[in-house]
Amino acid sequence: MKKSQPLKSGEKILFIVFGVFFILALIAYIALESMRLTSEEPMFKASTFFDFSEVGAEGSKIYREARCNSCHRALRAGTSMGLSLDGIGSKRSLEWLETFLINPESVYGAETLDHGLPPKEAAYTGRLSEDHRHKIAVFLSELRADPGSSVSKRPPPEHSEFIDSMVKMWAPKEWSEKYTDIRDRPVEEIESESK
Ligand code: HEC
Repeated sequence: MKKSQPLKSGEKILFIVFGVFFILALIAYIALESMRLTSEEPMFKASTFFDFSEVGAEGSKIYREARCNSCHRALRAGTSMGLSLDGIGSKRSLEWLETFLINPESVYGAETLDHGLPPKEAAYTGRLSEDHRHKIAVFLSELRADPGSSVSKRPPPEHSEFIDSMVKMWAPKEWSEKYTDIRDRPVEEIESESK
């Protein structure tokens, strides 16, 4: 019978490095999972929420029937081929949403991929009846996000020493005359901006 060859030193090092990585990954996985399972608070807090009016609830039904979910994600359903629409009501106004559904390129000020005129795949959204379009837009405007989350235009409510010191250190002096700190602006003003 053939005698098995002893491992070369290069191979030994390779196995040891791989083994160390594997053990570290295993320890990290076990630590993370046990933390997740024992922690009282959810590890990933949901930053989007909704509270539908009657029209919004109708809109949600029309939205599902109109196959928007074949590209979009909202309320834990759908795909991620288009944009996620959760929280969009904290970023876009109702008027913006309605206009987008009719004339997306004018609202974007740029060429769109799927919305727009045929043969674009989502062209049919421009041909929805006015009633359906309005209800869908109301539904979308009621998908909200917490201030400070990536979808919201509003900054987090807490005060951050870190952000203050960074602004002080890095922002050029002229900026304080040219711009207003978003945290000092009224919420209604920020939300009513169309973009
Ligand atoms: C074929 C895929 C597709 C379908 C179907 C589709 N969308 Fe979209 N949607 C997109 C893409 C891609 C974008 C980004 C703009 C673009 O390039 O067209 C977008 C953008 C949007 C936006 C703007 C988001 C933003 O903040 O910029 C809204 C609102 C929207 N879609 C709503 C809808 C609704 C409502 C429906 C169903 C009636 C729908 N979409 C169906 C692919 C799709």
